[in-house]
Amino acid sequence: MNINAYKPQGDKKNSAFFEEYCAKIYSRRESSGLDQLLQNLCAFIIHLESGDGLPYLEELALMTPYRLQTSYINNSHKIYILRTCNQFPRLIVMEPLSSDYEDDIKRLNMIYPLARNKPNARYVGEIMYTKDLKETQDILESHNIRFHYPGETENNFYTGHNIRFTVPSDFTHNRLGYTHIDLEDHSALELGQPFQLNSKEQQRLDQVARLSEELGIHHLIEGVDHMATRVLAGEREDAILEFLSISNYYFWGAYNIKEMNSSTNVNRNHTVSDDKLSPAKVFTANNTPSFVNSFENLPMPTEDFVRNYGRRMHHIAYEVTDGDHISQQKNVDFVVSQLNENKISFLGDVIGECSDQPNLKQIFSRQSPYSVLITEYVERCQGFSGFFTRDNVASLTEAAGHDERYEHGHVFD
Ligand SMILES: [Fe+2]
Repeated sequence: MNINAYKPQGDKKNSAFFEEYCAKIYSRRESSGLDQLLQNLCAFIIHLESGDGLPYLEELALMTPYRLQTSYINNSHKIYILRTCNQFPRLIVMEPLSSDYEDDIKRLNMIYPLARNKPNARYVGEIMYTKDLKETQDILESHNIRFHYPGETENNFYTGHNIRFTVPSDFTHNRLGYTHIDLEDHSALELGQPFQLNSKEQQRLDQVARLSEELGIHHLIEGVDHMATRVLAGEREDAILEFLSISNYYFWGAYNIKEMNSSTNVNRNHTVSDDKLSPAKVFTANNTPSFVNSFENLPMPTEDFVRNYGRRMHHIAYEVTDGDHISQQKNVDFVVSQLNENKISFLGDVIGECSDQPNLKQIFSRQSPYSVLITEYVERCQGFSGFFTRDNVASLTEAAGHDERYEHGHVFD
């Protein structure tokens, strides 16, 4: 695919600044050699509160295809590596050993009124394969991208010999890591000493994994389809351009979600045949900042989310295998009803219609009490090739907004 010749989809207008620099970024990626080095995303990373590790692994075992593969312990964290049964990216979960642990995640979360409840919980970012780690860092640093350096972080995971991370983005607060090693090579990851859950903990985890099989949902929930980060209205273009600068993704397109006064902006990796091998990175932003919103009193759930929790990952979407569970019941409806019966609550009902036309069915779960992330399930019916429909996104955004309000004085966010 020639990304320089690609015409983005959607009706959200970008500025002349965006168009100019998007083209320049693509061209510099090629001339600097970055595009030739970078491949696919190979892991997602989530940081938790101390004590939330096991319950979060249980939640993942019920709600996602991720299963614990190996655990490590070092002087600050327990680190869990989870995988699916295929070649999709790994999930790396980091749990501090002490409830007093503090790093930049906690310091950042403490600024925001609703993020303070779980000050160590945050989606950290992704890791991308590169053919040459040093060359990648050298190129990016020559483009003013900052990296964590050994000795400058409380968590040594960000500064290993074989994985290096950018500092949290000013626009998204996500990091992007790079590695040249196969994540199966655990010793090269230098994560500390391997350890095993005790038999009681392992039993709890096995029990949930069995439950997911018995409910008949495990084989229907595939890999991650996309991840959506929420950013401030005024930083939409910067957030996209920054991610394009440090990755090999391309700007697929953006749609205006007028009813919710927001836009959805999708970026994809053109080197993979299946998005689940390197999921789409979505950025959502309000169309107007909160301080002018009172002129028109338009909805602003996306801006409110950022004011309440900080710029951050909002949800991770999993693809549900398309098909009918029984007549009139699509697989996604079945998955959701099974989870519902097992104490997983959702924000509203499944949205979207699947009849004889290509279309999407989607739903948001309630926020995880451990990761502060929403899980989305999406079923693409009749070969629907897009990422969303405007109507669905408007309903989903509205449903999540009700759950993310913050009462402050007489202002209800
Ligand atoms: Fe989504």
